[in-house]
Amino acid sequence: MSRSKSSKKTKFVCSNCGYESPKWLGKCPNCGAWNSFVEVPVEDSKKGWLVEKSGVELKKLSEVMSIRRERIPVGIGEVDRVLGGGIVPGSLILIGGDPGIGKSTLLLQIAGKLAQSGKKILYVTAEESLEQVGDRAKRLGVESDNIYVLAESEMKTIIQQIEEVSPDILFVDSIQTVYHPDLTSAPGSVSQVRECAAEFMRLAKSRNIATFLVGHVTKDGSLAGPRTLEHMVDAVIYLEGERQMGLRILRSVKNRFGSTNEIGVFEMEENGLVEVTNPSSHFLTHSDEKRIGVAVIALLEGVRPLLVEVQALVAPSTFGVPQRNTTGFDPRRLSMILAVLEIITGYSLRNSDIFVNITGGLKITESGGDLGIAMSIVSAFRRVPLPPKTIFIGEIGLGGEIRHVKGIDRRINEAERLGLEKAYIPVTAHKLQGSKLEIVKVKNIEEAIQLCVG
Ligand code: TYD
Ligand code: MG
Repeated sequence: MSRSKSSKKTKFVCSNCGYESPKWLGKCPNCGAWNSFVEVPVEDSKKGWLVEKSGVELKKLSEVMSIRRERIPVGIGEVDRVLGGGIVPGSLILIGGDPGIGKSTLLLQIAGKLAQSGKKILYVTAEESLEQVGDRAKRLGVESDNIYVLAESEMKTIIQQIEEVSPDILFVDSIQTVYHPDLTSAPGSVSQVRECAAEFMRLAKSRNIATFLVGHVTKDGSLAGPRTLEHMVDAVIYLEGERQMGLRILRSVKNRFGSTNEIGVFEMEENGLVEVTNPSSHFLTHSDEKRIGVAVIALLEGVRPLLVEVQALVAPSTFGVPQRNTTGFDPRRLSMILAVLEIITGYSLRNSDIFVNITGGLKITESGGDLGIAMSIVSAFRRVPLPPKTIFIGEIGLGGEIRHVKGIDRRINEAERLGLEKAYIPVTAHKLQGSKLEIVKVKNIEEAIQLCVG
């Protein structure tokens, strides 16, 4: 944070508690936080409350309810799903992700599709040159006279150009590289990122320009990450995946105009991101072979279930402290499952290294996979394969009981669609629609182990 004087009027606000100060302070006198002050411009506070009649419209809720919201479909099914059916005009959408994951690629593809449907696009590239954007467009086969590209990072020029072009959709790549000249702090700092985002928000709302902001997820904290903006924007979507693997997941974590936790699945190929329309089939190894330590589980993100494999490996530990390693799964939840297994079943896992891996680079964010994860660990520990073509559904409680989870019938239907034959589900599951799967209801983890591995 720079502390030099600025010619424009600014003040400093504690980002922790909101305490205001005319000058920068190292420690907040109000909440005691260190290094929490950010610089923001001073708004003219002399305007009285009761002076002018404002143009505010007072409406009845019933009238508000009948306002229809139009959407602009992107034309890429997986993107539209995550956005809740398309882009809402005038909305501000933040797309976050690790550097190099494919954000610029995705945005250029979205721009291409929108331009095809006659929308006017302005693509502001603040971190790459025009040549780089041009090369990418060639690679992706995106070509249109409706897309304007601006290589600029200074806010005032960007705003001028937006007013000139008057686009339907604006892309800003990235919010961490644009800067407001009125602020003295460096581009990418919390105050710059917030102030620029607020400026884009005002523009989006006042001129009805749907705006996509790219935000890099940063590890070292030198740049303000997308999290600092999540509260301001209308929708937040993240592009995730292992960089080396081709799979990319687009996940909505906030959406003022639709449901969250919808995901879209893509594969990064030579010519850009390609939709994976049948992801479950993608994540399963279709074989009848019995494998040790492998179980099929269903993730339910939003409304669409996804079948994935969980793999576990239990190996004798060579160091004093046994390793607990997870990919795509909360290690604390693993500790809980291991504790339950130890206490309830008497398995001695404390001298073993345990690895749990959700295949395909996916992340589990709900508890419906607990039973399958526990069973894959048991299978790996006992060196006994689990029954083939079987799905495990259920949360594990602290007493070892298998608990109900949402959407059991949707998970079962997806398993049936993909040719599985058997499902282990909680005993409390009710109202199952007719399914061809053999359904086994289990009360607790002991019973499941007894039935599967003896
Ligand atoms: P990019 O969109 O530049 O990532 P971000 O904007 O999130 O930093 O994409 C980065 C990677 O994607 C790059 O390493 C190359 C790869 N890539 C492909 O595999 N195929 C493609 O068609 C393109 C454009 C990129
Ligand atoms: Mg980029």
